[in-house]
Amino acid sequence: MTRGLRRRLTSYGDEEFSLFLRKAFIKAMGYSDDALDRPIVGIANTYSDYNPCHGNVPQLIEAAKRGVMLAGGMPMVFPTMSIHESFAAPTSMFLRNLMAMETEEMVRAQPMDAVILIGGCDKTIPAQMMAAASSEVPAIILPTGPMETGNHRGERLGACTDCRRIWGQYRAGTIDGEEIGEINGRLVSSVGTCTVMGTASTMACLVEAMGLALPMSGSAPATSAERVRIAEETGRAAVAMAHDGPTAAEVLTPSALRNGLAVLQALGGSTNAVVHLAAVYGRLGRKLDMAELDRLGREVPVLVDLKPSGVAYMGEFHAAGGVPRLLSEIADVLDLSAPRAFGGTIADAVAKLPARHEEHIIRRRTQPVSETGAIAVLSGNLAPRGAVIKHSAASPALQVHEGRAVVFESVEDMTRRLDDDETLAIAADDVLVLRNAGPKGAPGMPEAGYIPIPRHLARQGVKDMVRISDARMSGTAFGTVILHVTPEAADGGPLAIVRTGDRIRLDVPARRLELLVPPEELEARMAALEPRPSAERRGYARLYQEHVMQADDGVDFDFLQDGVDG
Ligand code: FES
Ligand code: MG
Repeated sequence: MTRGLRRRLTSYGDEEFSLFLRKAFIKAMGYSDDALDRPIVGIANTYSDYNPCHGNVPQLIEAAKRGVMLAGGMPMVFPTMSIHESFAAPTSMFLRNLMAMETEEMVRAQPMDAVILIGGCDKTIPAQMMAAASSEVPAIILPTGPMETGNHRGERLGACTDCRRIWGQYRAGTIDGEEIGEINGRLVSSVGTCTVMGTASTMACLVEAMGLALPMSGSAPATSAERVRIAEETGRAAVAMAHDGPTAAEVLTPSALRNGLAVLQALGGSTNAVVHLAAVYGRLGRKLDMAELDRLGREVPVLVDLKPSGVAYMGEFHAAGGVPRLLSEIADVLDLSAPRAFGGTIADAVAKLPARHEEHIIRRRTQPVSETGAIAVLSGNLAPRGAVIKHSAASPALQVHEGRAVVFESVEDMTRRLDDDETLAIAADDVLVLRNAGPKGAPGMPEAGYIPIPRHLARQGVKDMVRISDARMSGTAFGTVILHVTPEAADGGPLAIVRTGDRIRLDVPARRLELLVPPEELEARMAALEPRPSAERRGYARLYQEHVMQADDGVDFDFLQDGVDG
């Protein structure tokens, strides 16, 4: 028997002695033999005082433990890393791979027959999916759920699309210092994840749609009784999985990925999900097909009217039927036979839907929020391996645009110069280019791609400009922002050779992004490019710089992908 406490015994020649020791130590916590002689369900505790998006984790753990025990299992809570967007420097993305490695190895190292991974804030569910994909222990994900909305002088507020809009108003001088202080206390009005269709909500909905989390677990509010009941149910499900559940690798089939990409388009979801899904599937030896993502975007319209593409918040999405309702609307493009970690198929999620209501939040196919999906994949001489744009959240007038490039050498250069007198020379139809902000360049591919509108233009009422970078963008942001330009400048991509004054042409309908310099000039500039020396001498930063891959490979480490040597 390899279950329970006997799992992964380090015998060194005497397994029974190892078990004797293991039992002796765990009994120090007051457990009885009866408690220990059961399937063990590990529960990853990602609570942290630095992570308000996970502020309800203690309550979810209690409920999940109850579910495990009601089903006859033994819950064992263990800590793993926790990452919050605002508290992880230099960027949360820099730490995602570390959390994925730590979670994978702690699940592997400790005896457990199934594991519940409680995640929520942007990088945590991706890290847990990556860990689960590489792990032989059946895993189920329990999202923390979205926060409540707040209210300011009669206006609803939700982190964090409104954060940006309001900060933009403050920069433009239409909100004063006193009012911005008042808003600061109301923007994030409860624990839980950002309540728009940002990265956290997108990933929570995707794990539900891809069969790694229970129905409605992608959207139930963090503070709701329903969320707690989902936690209890997740505990029960994990016990069943402990007996003969599939591994995450068996759930994450090519069909599940394709379903995920279709749902991402229909959600109006975050561009960051493209990177995270590429990383998850890289773990399984598969490459995310960017052309298929783009094809699905032409086929599947945005149906969910949530910020940043639309108007509403996650609470309304949940009330309107959440992911199962959305799946039913696009059932014709999904593979409903895709399996779920806790049994059954995706078809079961849409089988017993209540009558339709709230038609304006999850739209019918005939009345979409936007005719095409959220994300388009661009290519051209400026992005040989691709770039993405969330065109559902971009200005229609800028989708075909030619303009003069204004280049920022790095995030620091941009921060320094953006509000300088120097920027007064920037015009509204210029194209802002930020480089050296990719996986290697920054490092960690920060969410710097949402380059602020220069202050003098913001004051004139300019709300959007074409912006191009090798960085990512927060899923809660909006604008005509081209991201993930691959290869990045620091890896020798052509973004490195753009000069201020060059012309750049964007054509979203044709999916093109071109630097308008003659090919021979482009070639000469590329030939003159010096390789960037590795700056990091030690530690995780050095490991990161030496092994991180590009956006199309999910910004994972090369040695973590399946089938990659050394
Ligand atoms: Fe955690 Fe937005 S900051 S989900
Ligand atoms: Mg975010």
